[in-house]
Amino acid sequence: MLFEQADPEIYLLTTALGDQLAGQIATWVMPISLIPDPLRLIVALSPTGQTCQFIDRRGQFFIHLLATDQIPWLSHFGLYSGFDCDKFTGLDYQLTPSGLPHLKGTCAWAECEVLWKIDTGDRYLFLAHSLHQSHDPTKHPLRLTQGRNGLSPAEQDQHRQKYEADIQRARQLLQSADHWQMSPVAEKDIPRRE
Ligand SMILES: Cc1cc2nc3c(=O)[nH]c(=O)nc-3n(C[C@H](O)[C@H](O)[C@H](O)COP(=O)(O)O)c2cc1C
Repeated sequence: MLFEQADPEIYLLTTALGDQLAGQIATWVMPISLIPDPLRLIVALSPTGQTCQFIDRRGQFFIHLLATDQIPWLSHFGLYSGFDCDKFTGLDYQLTPSGLPHLKGTCAWAECEVLWKIDTGDRYLFLAHSLHQSHDPTKHPLRLTQGRNGLSPAEQDQHRQKYEADIQRARQLLQSADHWQMSPVAEKDIPRRE
């Protein structure tokens, strides 16, 4: 499997709607320009998540690149939904001047504003830019393999089960998304190399 061979960095996305805070883990984060100012990126989020729905309505989010000592956040922000629990009580965070939660101790961070959304059926792709970004040179980025290996066997099992359930949910979303059917590019009139 192509992407299962990769070992992506782990990000935490946060946002807020009114006085409600939301946050989730994401690995589908992609820079889309070489130009650093403003930084431009795409994040791909499930529309069933609270964080995604809040970002969709607010148009702003805060992205953190997790550090190697933040493995517990993988379950805290990645296994459970803010629809079912409060993820922020007891955590060390500050609200930015625009009211987004910035959690402490991460490797790098940026405040982002959504410019465009693409609905692919099972994901919203948010194209965003950031005017403020920074990093802590003493920290090192957490990657998926190290994060998974740091989970207890019971947690690993819970993550596997959630992953399988998320795939099923994504299939259902895509099936009912008649506005987004994949069409084979090969049938279109595109120039080909001889
Ligand atoms: C390692 C890992 C990577 C993840 N990557 C993504 C991702 O890129 N996009 C996404 O929508 N969900 C991703 N998730 C799942 C969300 O973090 C998870 O569904 C979360 O519970 C959503 O929380 P919320 O409903 O409070 O927003 C990932 C989870 C883990 C553990």
